[in-house]
Amino acid sequence: MENNQTEAKKVIFSGVQPSGLLTIGNYLGAIKNWVSLADEYDCIYCVVDLHSITVRQVPAELRRRIYETLAVYIAAGIDPEKSTLFVQSHNPAHAELGWVLDCHTQFGELSRMTQFKDKSAKHADNINAGLFTYPALMAADILLYQTDLVPVGLDQKQHIELARDIAVRFNGIYGDTFKVPEGFIPQTGAKIASLSDPTRKMSKSDPNANGYVAILDKKDDIIRKFKRAVTDSEAVVRFAEGKDGINNLMNIYSCFTGKTHAEIEAEFAGKGYGDFKMAVGETVADKLAPIQAEFNRLMADKAYLESIMKQGAEVAAYRSKKTMRKVYKKLGFVQV
Ligand code: TRP
Repeated sequence: MENNQTEAKKVIFSGVQPSGLLTIGNYLGAIKNWVSLADEYDCIYCVVDLHSITVRQVPAELRRRIYETLAVYIAAGIDPEKSTLFVQSHNPAHAELGWVLDCHTQFGELSRMTQFKDKSAKHADNINAGLFTYPALMAADILLYQTDLVPVGLDQKQHIELARDIAVRFNGIYGDTFKVPEGFIPQTGAKIASLSDPTRKMSKSDPNANGYVAILDKKDDIIRKFKRAVTDSEAVVRFAEGKDGINNLMNIYSCFTGKTHAEIEAEFAGKGYGDFKMAVGETVADKLAPIQAEFNRLMADKAYLESIMKQGAEVAAYRSKKTMRKVYKKLGFVQV
């Protein structure tokens, strides 16, 4: 990994919470793109377990999902020899820098975060301080590694801007400390919508399971969900304003096949929505099949997953130590 640094590749950092099933929205919006970045960039991908406890978790489930999230990363094609894969709580520097950044983030800034507003509405009985300060911890995740680029879905854009503001502020007060990161939001795939309500984002916490396709869904379920997807009454497969359902299916199909919207329109000219939905369902199921097989193989080999966690945590700790020393020194803490 030190090699990567001397080669001065740009640093990429991103993370996914181990808080639920991953959907094809997570896959297309984030993980699939991460795979293609590994050659060109110095990539660090994290399972952000500290973030997931801002809402109550069942400990045994959380533990299993941490393994699962790592297994999905690897099954999707992220090579742990090329990229750093690790679990956030295995590197204590995240919590340490998180606290420092808490003290450099304003109440007003955090109050404006839309994810906080949404989540506190959803979990009105547990609006804890961590839920509120979560974006400062996310900023710590990113700034610890002097990250250049943060590939995320559109919903995280506001958090990235806050991370930038915090970095600029800290650098302004104490002198150059952090690289100011940029968001890296993919064109297609950034926003995959729910199949049952295509005006909303596809979400793993959707109470209607027909709204999302999980990466680990069975072929029959995938096809059934696409068959039921909400569309419109025009019965022409074309990408156009007001056709949210069809647009979404075209985006999904495009992401999985690499075909353009024009190519998809030509392929389904004169055909009905039934044929189109069937094709999308079959394609998604077939593309996910090898990922699912690899996932199952990895989940049966916990020792291997743990060895990757260990190796990643060492690299992550080593790399973040440099930033932490700089931060503590600039703050005026005594180093012995
Ligand atoms: N907040 C992100 C989400 O909910 C997850 C996340 C935490 C993250 N830390 C990060 C993403 C750092 C990118 C970089 O999806």
